[in-house]
Amino acid sequence: TRPRILVTQKVPAPAYAPLEEIGTVDAHMEEGSIWPYEELLGHGPGHDYIFCLLTDTIDERFLQACAASNQRLKLIANMAVGYNNIDVAAATRLGIAVTNTPGVLSDTTADLAFGLLLATARRIPEAERYLRAGKYEGWGPLLFCGAEVHHATLGLIGAGRIGQIMARRASGFDMRVLYYNRSRLAPELEAAYNLTYAELDEVLKQADFLSIHAPYTPQTHHLIGERELTLMKPTAILLNTARGPLVDEKALVKALQNGSIAGAGLDVFEREPAVEPELLTMEQVVIVPHIGSASLQTRTLMATMASSNIVAHYRGQRPPNILNPEVLV
Ligand code: GLV
Ligand code: GLV
Repeated sequence: TRPRILVTQKVPAPAYAPLEEIGTVDAHMEEGSIWPYEELLGHGPGHDYIFCLLTDTIDERFLQACAASNQRLKLIANMAVGYNNIDVAAATRLGIAVTNTPGVLSDTTADLAFGLLLATARRIPEAERYLRAGKYEGWGPLLFCGAEVHHATLGLIGAGRIGQIMARRASGFDMRVLYYNRSRLAPELEAAYNLTYAELDEVLKQADFLSIHAPYTPQTHHLIGERELTLMKPTAILLNTARGPLVDEKALVKALQNGSIAGAGLDVFEREPAVEPELLTMEQVVIVPHIGSASLQTRTLMATMASSNIVAHYRGQRPPNILNPEVLV
């Protein structure tokens, strides 16, 4: 029998054909519409495969509901590298495979992180707002003086694929790059990416720019909070393109208000789509709506990668990006 496949949001078009070839696709096609949790819960049961997005909360209750309906649900394909929206441990207990989309978005996400670094340091959005508001009355020796990027110190929190590419971007600007990672990288990798390892507090103290590229897990919740922000230089700029709750957003607002850091470039927020209202009013903060991987090429690669994992499982092959391979045995 043909499997039933649910696609929870409208995704790039090339993702659908491979799914339609193997099964019956129930696709939520309303552009920009996200099912609230209860609605997702209503749609999930009865499907063999679920193609989901990072905005879908795939918790134990949802997984149990989908597993209970004739034990159908076999695999959840998340169209994202981060998978903190999914209770992988519960999925594993229920024998449900989970896949993500690593690698294909690393360059694109590092591009945005570096863009936020430049935009915040050189006050580009703030200067643009000023110009558009008709306030520009001529070149000024002190007009919009920002921070130097070249030869500054970049601190990386997390040096996986995206962090390493961020380091390579920084090398082009002659930056010194320090990194903190759960485990230290091999010496060859440190040499290849011009990375110097330091303990977390040391990275915090030395960074002119601190960029987060770590996964969000219970262990990394509020990795950057009041204590960490206090250790940073008053001239430092924080960049987050990873996940919002890695940073204590209320503590960040306070740190920006009392000048314990100078600015922030944020792509992600603790309670998306909500943003701490103070951040919206601060000129030294550059904020964008979770667009790290947002190029059509990259989103298409992510979408077709998610589909490939479903197709592989259906054909009895190992899904290439499986996060819990123990369910396959
Ligand atoms: C985007 O945030 C992703 O995890 O892919
Ligand atoms: C994601 O691709 C990462 O490991 O940084």
